[in-house]
Amino acid sequence: MTEAILLVGGKGTRLRPLTVNTPKPMVPAAGVPFLTHQLARAKAAGVEHIVLATSYLAEVFEPHFGDGSSLGLHLEYVTEDEPLGTGGAIRNVASRLHSGPDAPVLIFNGDILTGLDIAALVSTHRTSGADVSLHLTRVEDPRAFGLVPTDDTGRVTAFLEKPQTPEEIVTDQINAGAYVFRRSVIDTIPTGRPVSVERETFPDLLSSGAHLQGMVDSTYWLDLGTPQAFVRGSADLVQGRAPSPAVPGRCGDRLVMPGAAVAPDAKLTGGTVIGTDAVVGEGARIEGSTILAGAVVEAGAVITDSLVGAGARIGARTTLLGAVVGDGASVGPDNELNPGVRVWCDAVLPAASVRFSSDQ
Ligand code: GDD
Ligand code: MG
Repeated sequence: MTEAILLVGGKGTRLRPLTVNTPKPMVPAAGVPFLTHQLARAKAAGVEHIVLATSYLAEVFEPHFGDGSSLGLHLEYVTEDEPLGTGGAIRNVASRLHSGPDAPVLIFNGDILTGLDIAALVSTHRTSGADVSLHLTRVEDPRAFGLVPTDDTGRVTAFLEKPQTPEEIVTDQINAGAYVFRRSVIDTIPTGRPVSVERETFPDLLSSGAHLQGMVDSTYWLDLGTPQAFVRGSADLVQGRAPSPAVPGRCGDRLVMPGAAVAPDAKLTGGTVIGTDAVVGEGARIEGSTILAGAVVEAGAVITDSLVGAGARIGARTTLLGAVVGDGASVGPDNELNPGVRVWCDAVLPAASVRFSSDQ
């Protein structure tokens, strides 16, 4: 049975303030910590033993998922004293693997929402005889990712992490953040210091003649590293566009968690999630947005493609478009928050204090 490593130690800097109190994989998407979807998909593919490589806010994972038995998994946790980077994190958990030297080990970035056929990646790995196999996807703008050109047999010819110059943009195929490593290859990563699998391990393997195999597909794929992507991913889970066995309840236009109170004339559309014990007032319209547990949306507020943190309050008639409001923040009535704005945790905006249009 294939084992897996999940990389969940990143700081989630681009998601702040969502990741001030919560590590990125624990921010709720479609009502449950995002990691739940990845664990459930791995389980559905037949994985039973998963080692979580933790660092930032490491202490919150185990109290939530425990030994994994509620998901039918055997979970273990390994925390780095200092962040070891992606490659260092993989090497650091190697002693917890039971696989023999030639066995395939799955490795996942902890912030990817995807319909990847995990079994197909393992079978590509076996039939190609590769040392490492990588899931690849095509994106319009590859600059924020690892570029992975391949030859006509799918063999990887280079790995260019976050290219800086136009000449480096040689392909639209990117590293989709899921790998199969031959177990013995993991043991060659240096110990005791930070190592980037993308900047060091993959380029070194390629220059030493190792066989890296790419598997490109066009299944659903999203890196939830930014607030806009996170909100989109959660809405796609609710609507069933992104596959996960862990979405609570039936897929549809909205997901209302137990204990939430929604006024009968409020409109919830586009994959909106209303978290546990949250309150939505009369006439509010919420589209494609995530309202976390205990938040309050007052009457007539209009919230689109936005995320409202746990316990935050959005005042009457306030509009949020592409906005992130941190945990515990209070946005007074009649504010207008436009795309890209990040309201920090516990911040207080008085009534009508931020507008993009005239108040008259
Ligand atoms: N344990 C541990 N320790 N985990 C880490 C560390 C660390 O020091 N640093 C990062 N991680 C985890 C993050 O939590 C995340 O799950 C994963 O490693 C990747 O880190 P990101 O910070 O999300 O990287 P990225 O999104 O900029 O780029 C990566 O993902 C892209 C696909 O989304 C790279 O793998 C790119 O090549 C790839 O295209
Ligand atoms: Mg990422």
